[in-house]
Amino acid sequence: MTEVGIDAVEIWTGKLTLDLANTFAPAKGEDPEKYTKGLGLNASSFPDTYEDIVTMGANAAHRLMEHEGLEPEDIGRIDVATESAFDNSKPVSTYIAGCLEEVFEGEFSHANKGERKFACVAGTQSIDDAYNWIKAGRHRGRSALVIATDTALYARNDPGEATQGAGAVAMLISEDPDLVSLSTEQGYGSADETDFLKPNQQFPSVDGKRSVQVYLARMREALEDFESVAGRVTAEDFAYGPFHTPFPGMVRKAALFAYRHMTRDTAIEDELAEEIGRQPREEAFDNDSEYEDALREYMDGLKRTESYREWYARVIDPTLTISRNVGNWYTGSVHLARTSALKTAFDEGRDLAGERLLVGSYGSGAQAEIHAETVQNTWEEKIDDLTIDEQIERRYDLSFEEYERVHDVHNHAIETEHDGEIEEFTAPESEFVFGGWGRMGERKYRFIE
Ligand code: CAA
Repeated sequence: MTEVGIDAVEIWTGKLTLDLANTFAPAKGEDPEKYTKGLGLNASSFPDTYEDIVTMGANAAHRLMEHEGLEPEDIGRIDVATESAFDNSKPVSTYIAGCLEEVFEGEFSHANKGERKFACVAGTQSIDDAYNWIKAGRHRGRSALVIATDTALYARNDPGEATQGAGAVAMLISEDPDLVSLSTEQGYGSADETDFLKPNQQFPSVDGKRSVQVYLARMREALEDFESVAGRVTAEDFAYGPFHTPFPGMVRKAALFAYRHMTRDTAIEDELAEEIGRQPREEAFDNDSEYEDALREYMDGLKRTESYREWYARVIDPTLTISRNVGNWYTGSVHLARTSALKTAFDEGRDLAGERLLVGSYGSGAQAEIHAETVQNTWEEKIDDLTIDEQIERRYDLSFEEYERVHDVHNHAIETEHDGEIEEFTAPESEFVFGGWGRMGERKYRFIE
């Protein structure tokens, strides 16, 4: 059977950074540890004044195509996933293709282009679309370019402000992939929810506390649905568990639930029984509140056990390294988590070929998706090419007053002269930049050598 999956990946971070502990926390009068320990975030990435979802997506895709030695005619689809689109008709993929055609000789004239929307799960859905297109045999030997790109900005003073971020992940989806192949089996947890939405507005309306509960509920349903087709999942089945990461503290909560689920009725539950008792079973309780109290007590004990802590440090924590320093990239976030895990294995010299990942995507509104991936023999070459550490290091470190200005520049409701008059914090080099507006209100881009 033909394997289909991710052949190569490239990441582009917004070129500015806001230090949450040293810049944001003092300005907000908050304890820095709320961010570093509570949310698990050190810093956010922001777009410079000449960056947006198109430039970041095009820059990631440009690098990817260069590394892979690809020309436009090798690409049969370009799908962009974003929650930050600025046009209800013309898709971002057409802008990105236009940018790429400036630097490559050929054109994407026969590629199918589109834009996917379902909050943060849309990047994974675009991979799905590419997978199905290849499996259906409609690709004519070509690959798909999937680009997840977002400026995840919240209104100033919204509780979500601490979790902002900006960047793009470009992925090449091909037959016989070099990085990871995707499982046929998938699980979904989906419900009509009002936790996080943008009804024709730039910044989200968020019920933050509820969004956390909805994330956990949909992920649990997706895992159960996945198990219904792929069989029982246990704690040692997967090398890493990359999940959607709005902030690392969210994944910390989800991982504890996942571990409880995966160890139920296993030797690990038996071993832990002496220390913290057995897992509460609903049927053993007279009412919901007694059952919930017992669950809370069990979870409190579980998170302190050596067994859980060792598993978390090995399987989950390595997925959070990039996110901790860039914040939420919405559609790109789970793909950063996968890359972060593979990069950790690469940096540690670990042989990962043939090992499996359990990938959990989530989009507000709300839907979770879970599937498995198998790491391919050639994975190391693909991870060796990444420059994300250098990019993170090179970002311009904003003062709080500069952060406020940049936020205003990217705020569509505030009139700023966004046509080259605005101060740039970094100098563009070998990259696409925003170049002003056209006569029909379209955005213009150019490549700076
Ligand atoms: N030291 C250590 N920890 C501290 C602390 C301190 N001084 N002060 C607070 N904390 C801890 C808190 O205990 C809390 O941890 P727990 O939840 O484990 O108890 C954590 O830091 C955050 O503190 P608060 O809950 O008080 O923070 P908040 O109310 O200001 O905001 C939030 C938290 C609601 C998640 C907010 O950041 C938000 O609205 N974010 C946007 C929505 C979001 O990301 N939701 C996630 C699920 S939805 C999703 O995944 C889709 C998506 O991408 C948006």
